[in-house]
Amino acid sequence: MKHLLGLKDTSKEEIENILETARGMQVILDSNIKKAPHLNGKSIVTLFYENSTRTRLSFELASKYLSSASANISASSSSVAKGETLLDTGRTIQRMGTDVIIIRHPMAGAPHLLAKHLNCSIVNAGDGMNEHPTQALLDMYTMLRHKGTLQGLKVVITGDVLHSRVARSNIWGLTKMGAEVVVNGPATMMPVAIEDMGARVEPNIKHAVKDADVIMGLRIQLERQKSGLFPTIREYSKFFSVNEETLSYAAKDCLIMHPGPVNRGVEMTSMLIDGDSSVIEEQVTSGVAVRMAILYILTR
Ligand code: CP
Repeated sequence: MKHLLGLKDTSKEEIENILETARGMQVILDSNIKKAPHLNGKSIVTLFYENSTRTRLSFELASKYLSSASANISASSSSVAKGETLLDTGRTIQRMGTDVIIIRHPMAGAPHLLAKHLNCSIVNAGDGMNEHPTQALLDMYTMLRHKGTLQGLKVVITGDVLHSRVARSNIWGLTKMGAEVVVNGPATMMPVAIEDMGARVEPNIKHAVKDADVIMGLRIQLERQKSGLFPTIREYSKFFSVNEETLSYAAKDCLIMHPGPVNRGVEMTSMLIDGDSSVIEEQVTSGVAVRMAILYILTR
């Protein structure tokens, strides 16, 4: 693999390779000395045009744990704020000997543009409403750790599917790995023709989660209320929030997941977020192992 731009164009074998490599990286992560030579002599730069806590920090730690030189650039504190174009910024970073640029950008396709014009590897850390492949890979890795296989799992993704790059990457990835994906949320937040990606739409959350192995909540972007996509937060939570009653319809050992950041009490109750079924914090740790694996594979 040269780039990781999305799971739509990543093969099942490539996904399996990343997940398998992440298992090895987890051993380094769980050890007392988090230092291995896999990226010795390599240079990794994160270029973020949007806010992030998990993705950016986990990439930075992943590169440090594997002994690479790493640096971060935020659009707000760089020459982007003076009007520099994305391509000029990318070329400037590459000229400093960078092997991998990890980019988050509000426009879908921004990582693909860099990949077309630069020689270094590009990783998509979230592009508009398109994809967030490393999030979906860490989600699949977390499921695999608990369930042993992705084949035949019923995964319910609920919330603002329309604006969610996490949902899109998970649908592409999970269906390739043989899981059944059901999507649920307000009709105003459901993309048209999402079935063409391989997901099934179920508008009623109780029906959606019946016998589910995994329930994944998506962040409601609170600014969406102003655009009229749902009347009030209270009404949204009444019909779509995942709570203890919802969980009772799912399989006995159902996992509760969320990519974060979470709006407590909106997408799901605090009782579930902090409960025994929740693997939300474990997802964060998985993110480091999976991103270590991705950086290693791309720079081999
Ligand atoms: N899940 C996720 O992408 O979180 P951050 O926005 O904090 O990176």
